[in-house]
Amino acid sequence: MLVFGGSRSTGLAWDIAKAMKAETGKTEIKSFPDGEKYVKILSGAKGSECAVVQSVRSNDDLVELMLLLDTLRDMGATQVHAVMPYLAYMRQDRIFSEGEALSAKTVLKILDEISDSLSTVNCHFLSDGGEAVFNHIRLMNIDAIPSLARYIGTKVKNPIFVAPDKGSLGFAKAGAEILDCEFDHLSKTRHSGSEVSIEMKDLYVKGHDVIVLDDIISTGGTIVESAKVIRKGRPASINVGCVHGLFLSGIDQFKGTCDRLVSTNSMDNPVSKVSIADIIAKDLLR
Ligand code: R5P
Repeated sequence: MLVFGGSRSTGLAWDIAKAMKAETGKTEIKSFPDGEKYVKILSGAKGSECAVVQSVRSNDDLVELMLLLDTLRDMGATQVHAVMPYLAYMRQDRIFSEGEALSAKTVLKILDEISDSLSTVNCHFLSDGGEAVFNHIRLMNIDAIPSLARYIGTKVKNPIFVAPDKGSLGFAKAGAEILDCEFDHLSKTRHSGSEVSIEMKDLYVKGHDVIVLDDIISTGGTIVESAKVIRKGRPASINVGCVHGLFLSGIDQFKGTCDRLVSTNSMDNPVSKVSIADIIAKDLLR
């Protein structure tokens, strides 16, 4: 297999290829002065099975991915796999009021049309890992929560998992099974895109190393508010792990609030210490 990396995921693509003992494909990717993308595949792809690894955080990332996938097909690749560790637009998987775009469906539909398989990591609207079907589109959802739990587990002595809300209780439960410890959840109310309030009910965290796992840290509001509430219960430490660290408001806000902050390397950031290369490689070798 030939593994190509989009410009958002060059390093991760290289790590995946290494884990698979596969070759990396060469590309030339640049932007025209008006912002349009230029993509050229430099490696011969005819007759080869190919994978394109590209986290999609911006519209530019998405266009680049589309151009890479479609060009590989045009060049005669036998199969083209789209691997999107982080895939934007997956938060709008339902129509809440008439006329709204079902963004998750539209984006997946376009990518499905120009590739032979779609894989992502902890897709926001899917609670379980494994193969899923959404609006007749097949999607492999790779679960990075066990990797995060194991990593943090090596750093703490007396863990307890606390979910910021009921929605992420599954992550806390999965982590607790791996580290063989207790888990519970806080209660979150979202007031706006960046404002949340969190309550702790009868949660006992005193002396514990609290582990908080979430799929995405976007503005950071959920985690910062959760950590403030948890701190009142006098834990030994607060350890936060997220799969996709967008950190739109930076990471400084976590200093003094959390004792440890890690994310996977679905996107590069200063705390992306947990590699998902092996689990993606395993999925591609399936
Ligand atoms: C919510 O459903 C998600 O799991 C995250 O908790 C949320 O996206 C985090 O957003 P923010 O960092 O902006 O609070």
